[in-house]
Amino acid sequence: MDKPKVVLGVSGGIAAYKACELLRRLTESGHDVRVLPTANALRFVGAPTWAALSGHPVETEVFEDVHEVPHVRIGQQADLLVIAPATADLLAKAAHGRADDLLTNTLLTVRAPVVFAPAMHTEMWEHPATRENVATLRRRGAVVIEPASGRLTGADTGKGRLPDPAEIFEVCRRVLARGTGALTPDLAGRHVVISAGGTREPLDPVRYLGNRSSGKQGYALARTAVARGARVTLVAANTALPDPAGAEVVPVGTARELQDAVVKAAIGADVVVMAAAVADFRPAHEVRSKIKKRDGVEPEPVALVRNPDILAQVAARHPARPPVVVGFAAETDDVLAGGRAKLARKGCDLLVVNQVGDGRAFGTEENEAVILEVGGPETPVPYGPKEALADRVWDAVARRLTTA
Ligand code: CTP
Repeated sequence: MDKPKVVLGVSGGIAAYKACELLRRLTESGHDVRVLPTANALRFVGAPTWAALSGHPVETEVFEDVHEVPHVRIGQQADLLVIAPATADLLAKAAHGRADDLLTNTLLTVRAPVVFAPAMHTEMWEHPATRENVATLRRRGAVVIEPASGRLTGADTGKGRLPDPAEIFEVCRRVLARGTGALTPDLAGRHVVISAGGTREPLDPVRYLGNRSSGKQGYALARTAVARGARVTLVAANTALPDPAGAEVVPVGTARELQDAVVKAAIGADVVVMAAAVADFRPAHEVRSKIKKRDGVEPEPVALVRNPDILAQVAARHPARPPVVVGFAAETDDVLAGGRAKLARKGCDLLVVNQVGDGRAFGTEENEAVILEVGGPETPVPYGPKEALADRVWDAVARRLTTA
């Protein structure tokens, strides 16, 4: 079988050096990659580097090898075009259909999915001109990955960093897996809020009540949603996983912090998915200093109080309710009956039920579940990667969004 053909466009920003790592990951995982740097990109990383890492000659101008009409050939043959880093200037040219070099010409001939990974200073990213250009590209079906926050070139920090190349690679892999020719990702223009991980309820300054959720399923949902074009807010409770490229990550600790973050993010959102394991109870009193053992004295019992039910709150019928609300249910016994009862009780539209215990689900890479739907089918998802389950959840969500 032919290797999938990826075109890697590189525009002129300092993050161009990080695209070498993306290129290496793409080639090592069996993709045939053509690199199209802009003239300014070559001021940061030279043509020999791109040629050596891709195994192909590197062209920048339409006037090289004119007899082969390279911008048409490369564009038509591509299964994916990814531009990393995408500068403000490149986004502007793409949004306006300008074509003054080989990369921008190819952008007009390509019919495969296009992924932009912008990187620039915060002010440039937030400028209304850039905002409008990004909105235009997303409306047309391109996946524009939100930049990461952190240290920028020089001493300043803020939003605008190129996400980790490993995470951009994950987005590319998923966009490719969804099939070529998919011009419009089905979550384009949607804002989805996902909670992940497990809350911790402090007992004293060193101890907490927690649970065994790793956050992997929620992160898989975030990654797949980015690849399907969504804007993603990921509320992450006590996870130790790399930030998915393009997702805005809001770290939280306790159930009440998670509640604040989810309820705030849910305003105006299209979808809320509660994949986090939320503690139902918290210690009634948080002791300010460490609880000490004392010889001959029995320990005090820990009094617990109920935490808010965040899923039920978000799913309650009110004018600002997000159109689709999804819950997860981890059950140890009587999985389906318990799931059906929970779907009705929580008021959500979809409930993903899985069996836990005996080493199943927690911390593993794989999962098995049944997706229950109000007024819809029950969809069993066989044992497999958490990403595959995530994609089946988005299939069901996308279907409901189009009929909502
Ligand atoms: N959930 C929530 N707030 C809580 C508890 C749970 O939002 N205080 C959400 C979870 O994120 C999940 C769903 O509710 O999406 C089901 O969680 P689960 O722990 O299975 O449900 P419980 O309400 O705790 O039900 P039970 O105690 O009967 O198992």
